[in-house]
Amino acid sequence: MCGIVGVLGQHEVAPMLVEALRRMEYRGYDSAGIATLQEGHLDRRRATGKLAELSDLLVHEPLPGKTGIGHTRWATHGAPTVGNAHPHRAGPVAVVHNGIIENFRALRGELADAGLTYNTDTDTETIALMAQHYIEQGLGPIDAARKTVDRLEGAFALCLLFDGHPDLIIAARRGSPLALGYGDGEMFIGSDAIALGPLTNRLSYLEEGDFAVVRREGAEISDGQGRTVTREIRTLAPDTSYVDKGGHKYFMAKEMAEQPSAIGDTLAEYLREGAQGVVLPSEIDFSTVTRITMVACGTAYFACLTAKYWFEQLARLPVEVDIASEFRYREPPMPDGSLAIFVSQSGETADTLAALRYVAAQGVRIASVVNVPESSIARESDVVLPTRAGVEIGVASTKAFTCQLTVLAALAVKAATDRATLSPEALAETLAALRAVPGVVNQALLVTSDIAGVAAEIAKAQDVLFLGRGAMFPLALEGALKLKEISYIHAEGYASGELKHGPIALIDPNVPVVVFAPMDRLFDKTVSNMQEVMARGGKVLLVSDAEGLERASDGVWKWIKMPKVPPVFAPIAYAVPAQLLAYHTAVAKGTDVDQPRNLAKSVTVE
Ligand code: F6R
Repeated sequence: MCGIVGVLGQHEVAPMLVEALRRMEYRGYDSAGIATLQEGHLDRRRATGKLAELSDLLVHEPLPGKTGIGHTRWATHGAPTVGNAHPHRAGPVAVVHNGIIENFRALRGELADAGLTYNTDTDTETIALMAQHYIEQGLGPIDAARKTVDRLEGAFALCLLFDGHPDLIIAARRGSPLALGYGDGEMFIGSDAIALGPLTNRLSYLEEGDFAVVRREGAEISDGQGRTVTREIRTLAPDTSYVDKGGHKYFMAKEMAEQPSAIGDTLAEYLREGAQGVVLPSEIDFSTVTRITMVACGTAYFACLTAKYWFEQLARLPVEVDIASEFRYREPPMPDGSLAIFVSQSGETADTLAALRYVAAQGVRIASVVNVPESSIARESDVVLPTRAGVEIGVASTKAFTCQLTVLAALAVKAATDRATLSPEALAETLAALRAVPGVVNQALLVTSDIAGVAAEIAKAQDVLFLGRGAMFPLALEGALKLKEISYIHAEGYASGELKHGPIALIDPNVPVVVFAPMDRLFDKTVSNMQEVMARGGKVLLVSDAEGLERASDGVWKWIKMPKVPPVFAPIAYAVPAQLLAYHTAVAKGTDVDQPRNLAKSVTVE
């Protein structure tokens, strides 16, 4: 959701800015721009479309300078045009911004009264104009920036650059993440650690309300109350895994292929060598928990919905699951004994973070399942339960989802252990099923690798339905979301048993119906629903194992054969054909697999 970067360098900064933006392009990719100070004078280049357009522009119109800021945009206010692209400039000030300025209309009116006029449709331009206004009133850049930031309402991370001040960038954070990178006589600012990876591995994170005066020799940081503060500088292990696609055509393909090892690494956090069962931080003791509340968005929400089945069935624990954007305004009561679990790949999703803060204010214990341990959600949780998916660049989440499921499965097993809800035999069997997950996912990848032919048929459809029962129902939702996201085909997921309560009216020979039906205790029920579809001329794509296909594939349109998997954690394995189907359909349609239209990876606005 927009990526911002700033560099006070010893060398030309344009290539550094562009490389940092390339690494953050997953945050937004409808336009991009950079501004630098050349011999003290502010200049900028901006282009619509992918970052490559900006790179091309810079070949023809280079932008020299050793101080600069940059931005890759996911439009909130104003269409993705060059005029609306960042950096925005007003007189001596340039700004890049991630977030939304909620009171920009009121400020715009005030500025118009002062004779400062708008040239764009964006909320961001207000920031530059406001700073210009204060500079015209006689303030220096730092005071002008501070006064400007004080006037802003909403969520933002921003960098300000000033004409005539080549050793100064102002960085401020409220609601959107911002990291400072420390180099040798150089300083860097970025929306995340990924952006700054090649520049430095010495990072600190600004806290909510922080205002930083950044110069080449370091940063002076003050908090929301104006007190000077220090923020711990950490040395991060270099991570180069995202740099290329590892021989794959798309990041999504690479990330799907990485699932067995990513799940294995994740599981290793919870199934330690020498330990009998699942090991969790001591703060989590399910014997004192009476209710779990799980909150997330999108794919992470579907991971929570799946886990609800596991917690309820294995540990007999009541679970409430909600979408963060609803939960945060619903203000639900949180009874004593509640444990809240927030699930987020990025750890920065604005709605999930706001929901977490609501729960924290109720005094409830908070655990978060995150893929970025330095993220805001991780830092504001009582307990962090990491996924070890590694960096996920493809906008459609794949390995992060299966790693989230893995952590949640481990949690459910631990809950069953703490609450003694399973017999020793059943517990041992469940643990064995958990241990088997990486291998099972590996098999699923091998067995379903030839899905492209089926996907080419799906690519001809305008609408696709996904059905599942029990813990396969959330997977039906996820399968539909994946397909929508990257192939732009309209798709919906339903609980198999719900079809006859309305959606069955949609069935006709042009609507493929994908049915996830592993051989489990609900298999026959799912198959009955599938028969109801076929009886109405619907064409079914059945995803099941050899036994399931043997029993039920008569008359189906197509089938995908899965390996036999332990039923309890089957949704993790069945995620593979759901992902591959979406992937190959998108490839067949020629859509942009890694950067689908209108989307961004890290949703830091509400
Ligand atoms: C879909 C997808 C999104 C995210 C959602 C939450 O493929 O990736 O639906 O799951 O935006 O993001 P995180 O997990 O970063 O909170």
